[in-house]
Amino acid sequence: MEIPFAENYKIKMVEPIYRSTREQRVRWIAEANYNLFNLRSEQVFIDLLTDSGTGAMSDRQWAAIMTGDESYAGSSSYYHLKETIRSIFGFEYFLPTHQGRAAENVLFSALVKEGDLVPGNSHFDTTKGHIEYRKAKAIDCTVDEAFDTESKFPFKGNVDLAKLEEVLKLQPEKNIPAIIITITCNTSGGQPVSMDNMKAVKQLADKYGVPVIYDSARFAENAWFIQQKEEGFAGKTIREIVSEMFSYADAMTMSSKKDGAVNIGGFIAMKDVSWYEKASTFNIMYEGFVTYGGMAGRDMNALAVGLNEVTTNDFLDTRIKQVHYLGDQLIEYGIPVQHPIGGHAVFVDAKKFFPHVPKEEFVAQTLAIILYLEAGVRGVEVGTLLADRDPETRDNRYPKLEFLRLAIPRRTYTNNHMDVVAAGLKNIYDIRDEIRTGLRIRKEAPIMRHFTVQLDKV
Ligand code: F0G
Repeated sequence: MEIPFAENYKIKMVEPIYRSTREQRVRWIAEANYNLFNLRSEQVFIDLLTDSGTGAMSDRQWAAIMTGDESYAGSSSYYHLKETIRSIFGFEYFLPTHQGRAAENVLFSALVKEGDLVPGNSHFDTTKGHIEYRKAKAIDCTVDEAFDTESKFPFKGNVDLAKLEEVLKLQPEKNIPAIIITITCNTSGGQPVSMDNMKAVKQLADKYGVPVIYDSARFAENAWFIQQKEEGFAGKTIREIVSEMFSYADAMTMSSKKDGAVNIGGFIAMKDVSWYEKASTFNIMYEGFVTYGGMAGRDMNALAVGLNEVTTNDFLDTRIKQVHYLGDQLIEYGIPVQHPIGGHAVFVDAKKFFPHVPKEEFVAQTLAIILYLEAGVRGVEVGTLLADRDPETRDNRYPKLEFLRLAIPRRTYTNNHMDVVAAGLKNIYDIRDEIRTGLRIRKEAPIMRHFTVQLDKV
């Protein structure tokens, strides 16, 4: 018999979670205005809201916490992290920030101005928010395969080079400060970008003199997919692949809460000293002095260890196999999901799941609420609520895909938890034809409304 796969860690510390009743959840979700962000964590049994900052650190990371250096300037923890970033990504210059969106805020303050165009592959919502806030425009150049959830194309995060070139032809030197490639592409389903595509984007960018920035939150998962699926990379280590990936970038923004395997933190890293100098001013204004940028020394230490742990097959095999364990069960039940299963989450295609719920009634949010009621599982809508309104017309933007995202925290839940999630969704799928109405908005914020929106049942 073949020896099966198993996690390459054992558990040293546990945190109790509470399994509530349906009656409790009916009350709690109404009190939360049908917004899952308003629930208290004790009201959630299995929390798949996000894989961001919700993972478990290793004993080595906790040990590094104890040796953190809390000096305001020039701490040894800063230099430990700087050296780790240089050795993994090859960037000489780096600025710590308190999380990923802070890195975007600092770097875009230095680069992006009113009227600019910033092409990329389905920018994440905070990235787009920071671009639009500066009255610039994020232009999505993702390949069309990404919008066909049934296509098995392995690199749905790829940039469509023809779409990109159309944008680059529009006076790059004046109003295209950078191309942003998100690895993996969260919005399209945690889908990876191929090495071939990164290389081609860089060549095109060089032709037009436009720099390339990677939004790198899940860069290690992206490298794993290249190793597993792209020709010529099977024999390479994750570190070798990461090193080549970043050789095609001029800078990176990072949310360390994902593939940094820590609970808080972020950074910017770059090749060019002039970018570093410009961004440093904004870092000091918004985040903190350049050698801590909103992070405690101990947290920089834990991040340095985390980056080394995550860039190994030891870590990534276990991580991504769990995501696929859940995804494969849903596929077996016939539940429509984004294929192939991505790196950090399973994305359920809500429009196909609930064909009778009108798009104006927030189909994926409706599914997220019903899953919470059924099994105490909290997922998140990646659909019309998240897409916000058009900044000019104020009309709802209806994205091509309407997803319920089930994001799996790193090293946190067991496969038994995944079985609960799958059974909950199956029960709902069995009665899907009875669900014909969704939700309507009572109150919303002008930007990033999904965090605070108040909803009513239709
Ligand atoms: N870029 C990507 C691709 C992200 O997924 C996120 C965060 C950010 C940037 C911003 O980083 O949260 O540290 O400020 N994504 C989280 C999520 C919130 O749930 O996917 P942050």
